Amino acid sequence: MPDDSPLQSQTPDALMLFGFWYRAVPSNQLRRGQLAKTMLLEQSLVIGRDQQGQPFALRDACPHRGMPLSCGHFDGQQVECCYHGWRFDAHSGQCQLIPSLVPEQTLKIDRIYAGSYPYEERDDFIWVFIPDPGATGAGFSKPAPAPTPSPEVPKFSEHYKLAYLTADLPCSVDHGIIGLMDPAHGPFVHQAWWWRSQKSIHEKQKNFEPIPYGFRMSAHTPSSNSAPYKLLRLYADADSITTTIDFVLPNLRSEIIRAGKYWFSSLTTVTPITRSQCRIDVVAAWNLFRWLPFGPQLLKFVFAKFVEQDRRTMELQSEGLKHNPHLMLIDDADRPAKWYFGLKNAMLEMKKNGGEFRHPMSGPVTLRWRS
Ligand code: FES
Ligand SMILES: [Fe+2]
Repeated sequence: MPDDSPLQSQTPDALMLFGFWYRAVPSNQLRRGQLAKTMLLEQSLVIGRDQQGQPFALRDACPHRGMPLSCGHFDGQQVECCYHGWRFDAHSGQCQLIPSLVPEQTLKIDRIYAGSYPYEERDDFIWVFIPDPGATGAGFSKPAPAPTPSPEVPKFSEHYKLAYLTADLPCSVDHGIIGLMDPAHGPFVHQAWWWRSQKSIHEKQKNFEPIPYGFRMSAHTPSSNSAPYKLLRLYADADSITTTIDFVLPNLRSEIIRAGKYWFSSLTTVTPITRSQCRIDVVAAWNLFRWLPFGPQLLKFVFAKFVEQDRRTMELQSEGLKHNPHLMLIDDADRPAKWYFGLKNAMLEMKKNGGEFRHPMSGPVTLRWRS
């Protein structure tokens, strides 16, 4: 891949990566006995929570004639389709009843399944595993279990606080992700009097290394204009603070900041909804200012500002992208974006042809930019 290759030649159609866990809905948006419609990777899902509080995820289409199951009735255990009253076990999707059958009709209804997805509830979100197309799970058989547990926000002590933020972005998952790891927009997009100004732009140098299916910005003293750093300065010496930032396919950015016994960590995901829409979810955990009543609100306020600035930027960008302009990625500020496309291509290649995962990085790299 030549270094100045335009962005579009690397992302012909904003492909989405199947065979991974994705955040579906925040836990608190789903009460017991409730159904909620959602979409992940252009698949319509109905997510619900049973009487015992366990979540579940089904394909939002009845296997009989496609009526959305989200239009049906849920008694806390089984979902009943509103068209012909077929009933399905909420967790397995297995058919339990076909009301139109007479006793002599021996259709084996337990062989009929509404598509269901593996799910996990973790760190205030319901995660759903979206299998590779064609794999079991869609349609008429029992779903295969997910090969790995869902991702988790790293935590370093028994007691901590957790908060989340979520925003819809009117762009493809690729633009969402490269916007997330782009270091050069900071001084222009994230200005605030209490934060930083364009004048604070200065040269930076960071070391990166390959990790499985991703890359890491090696542990370093965080940039003096990063939000958690400013807060952590209240607790620890500047040079005892270290941060590590990882990106791992398909969409996971984790940031861990440690200062002695204090820590702050976050797991941000950009989830494809359709080819032209995605959603950013930030979940943060920390053991700082647990004693401070306004700590979480303050943090949420700071992060909400950031996410809103990014959301607004991508809304404006989507206007420009409508006309399909030529785009480019430059060194070194856009190198992480190039690695992202390289990782994604390697994943698609491996899924298609089998064989080894061909990591786009051959070893550690130092990048320099001004931001
Ligand atoms: S379409 Fe669902 S029962 Fe017929
Ligand atoms: Fe940003």
